[in-house]
Amino acid sequence: MEDISLHILDIAENSVSASATLVRISIIEETTKDLFTVAIEDNGRGMTEEFVQKILDPFCTTRTTRNVGLGLSLLAQSARETGGDSGPLCCE
Ligand SMILES: Nc1ncnc2c1ncn2[C@@H]1O[C@H](COP(=O)(O)OP(=O)(O)OP(=O)(O)O)[C@@H](O)[C@H]1O
Ligand SMILES: [Mg+2]
Repeated sequence: MEDISLHILDIAENSVSASATLVRISIIEETTKDLFTVAIEDNGRGMTEEFVQKILDPFCTTRTTRNVGLGLSLLAQSARETGGDSGPLCCE
């Protein structure tokens, strides 16, 4: 995806699917550090630590409509293409 806003919408959709009633999206641009950070947190059902370990695998999904889950792996790929990374994924 070319546009970061589409990634953000896509990841926020995960929160809705996880029955979240609160989704916090923070976007921080630090030009002096050449760093753009996006964090998305929610109060949905969460994930086990074990599940989080494999979540960037495109075949890791709880979807029942298809066998691939691309949202997080595509975002991680876009982040890598800019010289960044996908940061710590947390399941608390
Ligand atoms: N915020 C979240 N809360 C709980 N589980 C999540 C959350 N985000 C992702 N997941 C879990 O991680 C899996 C992979 O997410 P990902 O966005 O990569 O793919 P997907 O949502 O399954 O499919 P797609 O994004 O292609 O529609 C999801 O199926 C879901 O089980
Ligand atoms: Mg998704």
